[in-house]
Amino acid sequence: MNIFETHAHLDFPQFNKDRNELLQKCFREDVKYIINVGVDAKSCKASVKLAEKYENIFASVGYHPHDAKDFDLMLIEKLAKHKKVVAIGEIGLDYYRNLSPRDVQKNVLRKQIELALKIDLPIIIHDRDAHADIYEILTEYNPPKVVFHCFSGDEVFAEKIIEKGWFISLTGTVTYKNSHLENVVRMVPKDKFFIETDSPYLSPVPKRGKRNSPLNLRYVIEKIADIKRLPPKMIAEMSFQNAENFFLKKA
Ligand code: NI
Repeated sequence: MNIFETHAHLDFPQFNKDRNELLQKCFREDVKYIINVGVDAKSCKASVKLAEKYENIFASVGYHPHDAKDFDLMLIEKLAKHKKVVAIGEIGLDYYRNLSPRDVQKNVLRKQIELALKIDLPIIIHDRDAHADIYEILTEYNPPKVVFHCFSGDEVFAEKIIEKGWFISLTGTVTYKNSHLENVVRMVPKDKFFIETDSPYLSPVPKRGKRNSPLNLRYVIEKIADIKRLPPKMIAEMSFQNAENFFLKKA
């Protein structure tokens, strides 16, 4: 089985003690590719470094809405031209924590969508309690390749995204007891979803509360397989194909 981890933060300090051992274990245990996602200047640079060091790791660069107030367009544009950078992200709006003012978040989101279009890279969206505003801003530009990372909307919102030709990405949150994602998982077409961990966060059941890692993707796969009534291997393959086409092949 080949697994494509589409969203992890393996440069974060939670992995400082065992990063290399963990990655070697991931690569031995079916995780074929990993996208390491930047959120600010430091993590974007670290993501590119990690991608330089490991053949099967790729990087995404961008300013998370929490860090929008420190946005440095020149830095992101420079890093985005690196041959192992495969996306702009994670970018978006976060109205739950509001760590940057909303106007700043929106402005920085627009600047990064414009950059992604200019240099022809896919976009990884972070959307927390901001579905309507993100959708509105994205439709001003209609970028061809967009994924809503850690999708948290309902099936009506999922339908709107899929109609646009965009993707949704599912994390360990699908395994949570209070998850509202069952209908979304059931309706999402086979060619419109990816899987991810968002490591070190969002550990799936039965690992909740512990540090997450790409090794836990199997729990996400099993839950999706269970809801969709398909073999886990098929879920892994579908999401692998979708992610490979989206991130690693030029349209
Ligand atoms: Ni993330």
